[in-house]
Order: sequence, then structure tokens, then C-alpha cells
Amino acid sequence: MGITIIGTGHHVPGKPVPNDALSRVMDTSDEWIRPRTGIAQRHFVAEGEGVSDLALIASQRALKNAGLEAEEVDFIVFATMTPEFIFPGSGGLLGAKLGIPRIPALDIRQQCAAMPFGLQVANGLIETGAARTILLIGADAHAGFMPWDDWDVLTGDADGPVSDEAYERGTRHRGLAVLFGDGAAAMVLRHVDPPRGFLGAELHTDGRLFDRIYIPSGGFRSRPYFTPEMFEREEHIPRMQGRDLFKVAVTELSRCVRSICEKVGVSLDDVDWFIAHQANDRINNAVRQALKVPAEKVPSNIARYGNTSAATIGILLDELRREGKVREGQLVCFFALGSGLNWGATLVRL
Ligand code: ACO
Repeated sequence: MGITIIGTGHHVPGKPVPNDALSRVMDTSDEWIRPRTGIAQRHFVAEGEGVSDLALIASQRALKNAGLEAEEVDFIVFATMTPEFIFPGSGGLLGAKLGIPRIPALDIRQQCAAMPFGLQVANGLIETGAARTILLIGADAHAGFMPWDDWDVLTGDADGPVSDEAYERGTRHRGLAVLFGDGAAAMVLRHVDPPRGFLGAELHTDGRLFDRIYIPSGGFRSRPYFTPEMFEREEHIPRMQGRDLFKVAVTELSRCVRSICEKVGVSLDDVDWFIAHQANDRINNAVRQALKVPAEKVPSNIARYGNTSAATIGILLDELRREGKVREGQLVCFFALGSGLNWGATLVRL
């Protein structure tokens, strides 16, 4: 049996927020952000909007693209690091919104590395006969951990400036805050006959590196698990060791891509597309140079969306399929690294 991706869709909320808008709430600039990351703008969810709302629209688009009705889906795999609730997960909320309650929904927690893991999980579910048609979602809504309250100043709907205290708080977290944006992507996966599709994955998790990017508070080591003091210490905002992450990403991702190609028995030249997590153009360029693959095979859309965590790979794949660039029969290598640390690469014949 083989499973492959027969439909894709994505959705990003609201209007784009350009780099210059961020300088209304913190000391940063387009001149700093763009050359270091490739990011020009990002989108944010509205207050009250959650990842299952974004995923609903992405899923409807993916199902239409696959030519299927929601009722034909028999399993949801939902990847997010920013669910609506600490529990339950967002997969069940999506099933209810799609009008397919009662089908199983599995929430996975691999953060930005979600898609290589999600593809392997989906493959396993279909291979074992547990599912026939899977909706694989990557969706994240980071607005809730952004280090500012003055959303109306950010969007230009109110005049600034923000208070000195607010500006200093934003600036303390600027290295992280400028990177992320919100969005959702959906893939429809099904077995195909004759078999093609999922060829293999190489996945890694190293919990020793958990503090390279994590949220220090709001967890069940504490009684209660949220306190006013946690907010005073700004511990609801992720901590990130950017330089370290950068080095681990470049080293491990290039090693991992090489290794999965060797295991599956294909050369790097055989791969039509390397669809990478969009955390930073400089990371992906360094991986590409280490692998000596041409720039045209490593597309990027980070300029328009920033890092949408679990959603990046699906959004990029959907855009490339709709532009007619990524086509049936081509060999695609997906690779990503995220909090955990988790990282991996997956090879799929579309
Ligand atoms: N605007 C202006 N100045 C800034 C900003 C900003 N947004 N952020 C940091 N600076 C300043 C710093 O304060 C520092 O100033 P100093 O020299 O006066 O102390 C200077 O710029 C350099 O800061 P660094 O953090 O050392 O900058 P670096 O060159 O490492 O770039 C970056 C930072 C872009 C975050 C880079 O390290 C990176 O991309 N790392 C990978 C991070 C990542 O990908 N995270 C997400 C992956 S995991 C996941 O997806 C969940």
C-alpha cells in the first residue's frame, strides 16, 4: 500500500502586518528583520479566533482540492503548539466544525517539526488499516504570546506611541516576536493504487535541548499552573536561544536529509523539491549550500507569512501545487526542526 497527498489547502487570517508596523510597539525595523530572516510581513488571528477556526477554512479548501466531502475523512491528525485550550486538543474541535464529530482526532506536539512527524503518523495509520482518508493539519496562532497589548497601535487603528513600559517590554522580546505569524494548512492523505507516496522518514527528538525554545510557565509543575507572578515575570512568552537553534538546525537538518535519501536509495539530484520549514531563509540557504542543491529546488514564502510553525510546510506545498509547480509523480523531501527539540525529514512521491 502507498499513501500520498491528494489535496492541499491553507488559510491565513486578517491583513498582513509589515515589519515597519512592529516598530510602533518595540525597537526594531525592516532593515534589521528582513536581511536576517527573509521576513517582510506576517498575519495574526483576531481576538477569539483559534487554530481550529483557521484549520476549518484550510480543510475545506484541501477537501475541495481533493474532490472529497468531509464525510469521507475518517481520521484527523492535528499538529499545533498553540491550541485553543490546554486540554482538550484542537483536532476534536475541528471535527465538530467540519460536521464530522465522532471520528478519531489525534493531536500531536512536534511544534515547527510537525509535518515530517505528521506524515509518518498518517502513513502508519493508513498502513495498519486504522484509517483510509486522513486530514493532516498544521496550524498555529502565536498572537497570544506576543509581547504587546496595544494591537490597535500595531495595526495603525490607533495613534501611538505606546507607553515607555510597553515599548521596553516589546523590545525585551523582539528577537522572538518578529519571527512568528499565524496560519493553517491542511493535507488530505489517502492510499493510492498502484502504490506510491510515502517512502520513508528520519525523525529525531532530543529533550536535552528543550530550553532552546520553550515557554517557561503555565505548566503543571506549578500549583496552580498559572499565577499572576508568572505574567509579571513574562514567563508566558517563549524563551529562545536563537543563535544556538540556528546552528543545530543547519547541522542536523542537512545530516538528516542526506541520511533519509541514502536510506531510501535516492540521490539528492533525484529529489524534485526540498520543502523546508520556514523559520529563517538563512537557515534554509545554509542547509541548501551544505547539501549542494540548486536554489530553485528550495522554495521560500517566509517573506509573506513569517514562521507559522506547524503550518509552514503545508502552506508552501499548497501554493506550489496551485501554481502547478509541484506535480503528481514528483519526489519531495520535507524537512523541519522545532521546539522539543524535534527534527526530521520525510520523502514522499506525490
Ligand atoms: N530588531 C532589532 N534588533 C534586534 C532584534 C530585532 N527584532 N532582535 C535582536 N536584536 C539585536 C540584539 O539585541 C543584538 O543587539 P546587541 O548586539 O546590541 O546585543 C543584535 O540584534 C544581535 O542579536 P542576535 O540575537 O545575536 O541576532 P542573530 O544574528 O542571532 O539573529 C535570529 C537572531 C534572527 C533570531 C537568529 O538567531 C535566528 O534566526 N535563529 C533561529 C531562530 C529560529 O529559527 N527560531 C524558531 C525555530 S524553532 C520553531 O520554529 C518553533
